[in-house]
Amino acid sequence: MDPLPSGSVDLHVSLHRRGRLAADAYRQLREAILDGRLRAGDRLPATRDLARRLDVSRNTVLHAYQRLAAEGYLVGRAGAGTYVAEGVRAGAAGRRAPVGAALQPRAAWASMPPPPAPPPRPAPYDFQVGAPDPALFPWDAWRWRVSRQLRGRRARAGYPPPEGDPGARAAVARHLGVARSVRAGAEDVILTSGAQQALDLVGRVLLAPGDRVALEDPGYPPARGAFEALGARAVPVRVDAEGLVVEALPADVRLVYVTPSHQFPLGMPMSLRRRQALLAWSERTGAAIVEDDYDSEFRFDGRPLEPLQALDRQGRVVYVGSLSKVLLPTLRLGFLVAPASLVPALRAAKALADSHGPLELQRALAELVDDGLLARHVRRVLRVYRERRDRLAAAVERHLAGRVIALPASAGLHWSFLLADAGADEAGVVRRAQALGVAVQPLAPYHARPGRPGFALGYGIIPAARIDEGVRRLAAALEPPPAVRARR
Ligand SMILES: Cc1ncc(COP(=O)(O)O)c(C=O)c1O
Repeated sequence: MDPLPSGSVDLHVSLHRRGRLAADAYRQLREAILDGRLRAGDRLPATRDLARRLDVSRNTVLHAYQRLAAEGYLVGRAGAGTYVAEGVRAGAAGRRAPVGAALQPRAAWASMPPPPAPPPRPAPYDFQVGAPDPALFPWDAWRWRVSRQLRGRRARAGYPPPEGDPGARAAVARHLGVARSVRAGAEDVILTSGAQQALDLVGRVLLAPGDRVALEDPGYPPARGAFEALGARAVPVRVDAEGLVVEALPADVRLVYVTPSHQFPLGMPMSLRRRQALLAWSERTGAAIVEDDYDSEFRFDGRPLEPLQALDRQGRVVYVGSLSKVLLPTLRLGFLVAPASLVPALRAAKALADSHGPLELQRALAELVDDGLLARHVRRVLRVYRERRDRLAAAVERHLAGRVIALPASAGLHWSFLLADAGADEAGVVRRAQALGVAVQPLAPYHARPGRPGFALGYGIIPAARIDEGVRRLAAALEPPPAVRARR
């Protein structure tokens, strides 16, 4: 089929009914204008070109165009072609798929919580959890490296390997070796679309429907969701000041998911004693350990403990990481480091999931690592986040003393607090805070079983200068409304 002349809209039109060709072309074009697929000002193909493309006579197309012009849908501009007229009201909702309920997802999806909706507009005092500050992203260095990759001559023909660009995998292995003492060569690394895809791939290769998976409680809901979507059954396991309570793990789980560097969401690191106990437990039971090291680059105080992956001598740990916090979550750059026994299956799973990740971004990342820029960037943003964390500490001391219990805050981009009043209404606090322009994250959605009320305060995106006022307002939100107080 001939390509259309540049500048005109390549609308799909299908004409089958002999004798009705002009009427069908008219109806389909009119529908496309009314449902918004064709917008005011769009240029239609010349009648001759469209006729050739549809294999009909030019008169057929001319007829349809003339009728649409007579009804005000199209306008001809002398010598410049035919356009969709201004002022035609397209259907507000646009075109929708049929609404019938004939198809239903499998049961696991019916109970899956919907992904969190982004707020219609950011709160003035936005303590949202897990989001890094886009203003700190090294835009110029990134743009320069990506545009170098996009210069055509460097492009590679065909599909790259599913596990990712070899240079980028080597760079990630080096970065993890230096920054986290993870033991990995390029061949152990698979680049993924964020940590989330790494969890999904690990689940795919290790879990059969009905397998039991242990997760920290409270914990990271998207990990639970990824495993449950594959038919696994989640077993919540409590955490204490030393992290996951290994003694509470049932013996019959196939996989345990943990966040040892910075327990999500409560913040404590898993003690060395517990790390060793977890590895010993996995040796006894044969279960796999998935170690999510999602934001360990941001460590403010204390010595980092060795990752489970570095302590593991038997190839039982899959290490999962992400550049979502260090760079930007929108890049979807994540990775896993797997024992050699799992790599072929994980490569195959990655190929089936999405062929491979974005090659140009992977190569830009490799350059960022190799030039030492990633390490410098981490040091720079760490200083900024440390200042915000310190301001938060001062503001909490000033406005919330005695009313909240601060949990550990030696790492990461958020800080969790329990309400001193264990019977307090967490949802009410969050709602009242919202009304005062303060976005905070309740802890309840992270609990599988009812837990102590509290909230997490992210300091990734809130400017340092807004922290004190944000916390002052939050203190006001802790106050129950007068009517409730009077009834007590
Ligand atoms: C526990 C945990 N794991 C992983 C991630 C990162 O996920 P991704 O790399 O898919 O953006 C986050 C981000 O909030 C997280 O909190």
